[in-house]
Amino acid sequence: MLDFTNEIKKRRTFAIISHPDAGKTTLTEKFLLYGGAINQAGSVKGKATAKHAVSDWMEIEKERGISVTSSVLQFHYNDYCINILDTPGHQDFSEDTYRTLMAADSAVMVIDASKGVEAQTRKLFKVCVMRHIPIFTFINKMDREAKDTFELLDDIEKELGIATCPVNWPIGSGKRFKGVYDRANEEIELFSDTRKGTAIGEVKKISIHDGSVDSLLEEGQRELLEEEIELLDGASAEFDQELVGKGELSPVFFGSALTNFGVETFLQHFLNMTTSPLPRKSDRGEIDPMQEKEFSAFVFKIQANMNKAHRDRIAFMRICSGEFEAGMEVFHVQGGKKVRLSQPQQMMASERKMIEKAYGGDIIGIFDPGIFSIGDTLTSSADKFAYEGIPTFAPEHFARVRQVDTMKRKQFVKGINQIAQEGAIQIFQEYNTGMEEIIVGVVGVLQFDVLKYRLQSEYNVEIILETLPYEYIRWIENKDIDLDRLSGTSDMKKIKDLKDRPLLLFVNSWSIRMTQERNEGLILSEFGRS
Ligand code: G4P
Repeated sequence: MLDFTNEIKKRRTFAIISHPDAGKTTLTEKFLLYGGAINQAGSVKGKATAKHAVSDWMEIEKERGISVTSSVLQFHYNDYCINILDTPGHQDFSEDTYRTLMAADSAVMVIDASKGVEAQTRKLFKVCVMRHIPIFTFINKMDREAKDTFELLDDIEKELGIATCPVNWPIGSGKRFKGVYDRANEEIELFSDTRKGTAIGEVKKISIHDGSVDSLLEEGQRELLEEEIELLDGASAEFDQELVGKGELSPVFFGSALTNFGVETFLQHFLNMTTSPLPRKSDRGEIDPMQEKEFSAFVFKIQANMNKAHRDRIAFMRICSGEFEAGMEVFHVQGGKKVRLSQPQQMMASERKMIEKAYGGDIIGIFDPGIFSIGDTLTSSADKFAYEGIPTFAPEHFARVRQVDTMKRKQFVKGINQIAQEGAIQIFQEYNTGMEEIIVGVVGVLQFDVLKYRLQSEYNVEIILETLPYEYIRWIENKDIDLDRLSGTSDMKKIKDLKDRPLLLFVNSWSIRMTQERNEGLILSEFGRS
């Protein structure tokens, strides 16, 4: 048998997380520029135009000029084969965004230097922590006025509870931005505006001990840098690869994605420090891609409606071990039968293309005749196993769904169940009221519109959504709970999921705390397990 481990060792599969507008798309684009996947910056994104060409699948995307779905990009840099998982932002933030992180081996967190840690970064960061994957920080937009550098690091440490280790250090910001100081090499990398970042710029490096440094920096900058570095050497955590690997220490880099400054330095360090595909938990123990020779993968996202006429679906899967070949037959563990993996696709810069081969670490999209669910395992191993399921993430917006035409109940139930199966929405029922009404929970409000639109256009069912005031949902971990006797706050609501498992809805976090105080031993969780 061929040894694919060399191919797998080259793979680096990571997600980019940030709050909208921090510069995630710009940074991704610059990575592609360095990898030679695109010739000129600007060809991946032009917000309303090129961006939706990447995933031009739903009408709603076209109407709004946004990308509802997350996309995957593959490119090569030196000897690495890199898979970037993009996590959509803005109001199209959805459960998919969280699930994407389940397919990554590490995460790059982009932070706007003038803003520090923002809401969405915080949410996504929680999922990275749950998985203990390495997290790398790129503090962007140094060409604009930035917050104090120590304050930025403090913000990350306090807000996110992770130690930081700056690999380089900025010299000034905004109009006075001169570059970064590389701590390990004691060198200054000088910033030059590379034609608004449309081309790969030349990085000039000069030793901090070089006599010409003063003339290259503005008055006082050298002294300040020396002071800051001295303070930093005394105060910050030392670089420790093991802690980075466990997701407990985040290496920090500074730069400006727009002008290409610091991007290649970051990419090089990151590729060295991050990991090749990691072992994954299964019901047969950990499956290590360096040991397991057979193909295995799990589904982390299902994209419906790529072709409206056929109501077809694409299942995106993360290959965890072995080699994939187009058209191969593998065992679908949850379905209990063999399936042929046809029409495999991969994203390359801004286009989708058919692929013949892929390896552990890669992400592929497979035509799904409606048999796959999120979390399903596929394998060609004779000794079958299933990867650990993907948790259900807490929705933050809830609405009661009513049909306009009650005669269409059957289509409505079928439609809403199918859409829920794809994972964009979660559906719940009233607890003990005997009412048949359905409550829908979503992570991002845009999903309400998507639901309404899809039920109408695909199932010919019109609905009215009545939004509910709840913002928090909690799964009850206790096995032997008597929900009737549970006493919560007056604004708490008891509901159940389709498997009859009890859940609680809350209006605010205070109610959660009160309910926990009033019910000793009650264990509430933000993640639902399948
Ligand atoms: P996102 O994917 O995280 O949402 O952010 P995106 O890359 O779209 O960047 C958001 C805005 O910030 C864009 O400006 C982009 O050009 C700008 N930007 C990104 N990196 C830098 C940087 O290093 N320095 C500065 N000064 N700006 C940066 P826009 O005007 O909203 O969009 P566009 O019209 O330029 O595309």
